[in-house]
Amino acid sequence: TQDGEPPRQRVTGTLVLAVFSAVLGSLQFGYNIGVINAPQKVIEQSYNETWLGRQGPEGPSSIPPGTLTTLWALSVAIFSVGGMISSFLIGVVSQWLGRKRAMLVNNILAVLGGTLMGLANAAASYEMLILGRFLIGAYSGLTSGLVPMYVGEIAPTHLRGALGTLNQLAIVIGILIAQVTGPGLMSAPTRPVPPAPAPGGPLPSRDSSSQVFLVERAGRRTLHLLGLAGMCGCAILMTVALLLLERVPAMSYVSIVAIFGFVAFFEIGPGPIPWFIVAELFSQGPRPAAMAVAGFSNWTCNFIIGMGFQYIAEAMGPYVFLLFAVLLLCFFTFTFLRVPETRGRTFDQISADFRRTPSLLEQEVKPSTELEYLGPDDEND
Ligand SMILES: *[C@@H]1O[C@H](CO)[C@@H](O)[C@H](O)[C@H]1NC(C)=O
Repeated sequence: TQDGEPPRQRVTGTLVLAVFSAVLGSLQFGYNIGVINAPQKVIEQSYNETWLGRQGPEGPSSIPPGTLTTLWALSVAIFSVGGMISSFLIGVVSQWLGRKRAMLVNNILAVLGGTLMGLANAAASYEMLILGRFLIGAYSGLTSGLVPMYVGEIAPTHLRGALGTLNQLAIVIGILIAQVTGPGLMSAPTRPVPPAPAPGGPLPSRDSSSQVFLVERAGRRTLHLLGLAGMCGCAILMTVALLLLERVPAMSYVSIVAIFGFVAFFEIGPGPIPWFIVAELFSQGPRPAAMAVAGFSNWTCNFIIGMGFQYIAEAMGPYVFLLFAVLLLCFFTFTFLRVPETRGRTFDQISADFRRTPSLLEQEVKPSTELEYLGPDDEND
């Protein structure tokens, strides 16, 4: 009954160990997304002292607020710049060194970045912290592509979804560890969790742990569509709540529900699924290039949202989430029309799918493709 499908392979100790080691990189990635939020006040105070120290005893008594804001924004956003640049190199590096050695060598960036950040305070240098954030961003950019690629490649077809979810889970756990230990270790006032379209991507949410295996059951495409539709609904609910907030105070609760729903649906669909689909859509040859394009777009959008959200929110007021609702509707439509299901299917089966829905031009040129419509439908396995 499973025509054309590879034989089912067992989960071996080696496979578990390899996947576990690989997703540790994603844990580190997640940690560095989350870690910057909690100690904001501590870091700002340190920047203030550093700046004052450099002015000498006769200088001003406080860092100008504008300078502090710039330094802080730079410390946050430079992470995405590092990710943007390095994610573009995923293809080159993973071809040149191989996936495994690329992940190993990538750790040099993490060690360098961590060392710089760790010593920045003692050395009274914000340049070191910013450079460290840049390097750890570069590490994260490579990780964001290398880990799903490696895990997708070593996993047997029927386990790809389940094992791939571990990657997203590791990122979320990393963020969570950073959020939990951040305030404790630094004893700093916590900044509230940023709004859902926040820089740095996924936010911790409870339902992500129940995802393992859900991806295998429901299929990537269905989950992605569900996530996008849910996020779109939550964005509309958020807009309504913000518009009515003046007259109906209870709307503040509705907006909280909307934000949590937004994040939950993100974790179901657009958070993890695009990484699966990209890793599964392409065979080994073009996969690194595809992951690089995906990673670069992801990090660029992170950066744009991180830098631009403040300004867009000021310009659009309560309608800002309507913009996201419209975009999400576009993404939903595109996914519905163009994105194939990749669950439990080999690359040949998936690429055959693309050949079955030829563009208008191809239809005119090769009418013989029609024969392929008559092929067996392996959707209901
Ligand atoms: C910077 O430090 C000085 C001295 O401790 C303090 O008076 C000032 O309020 C601080 N400025 C900021 C922006 O934290």
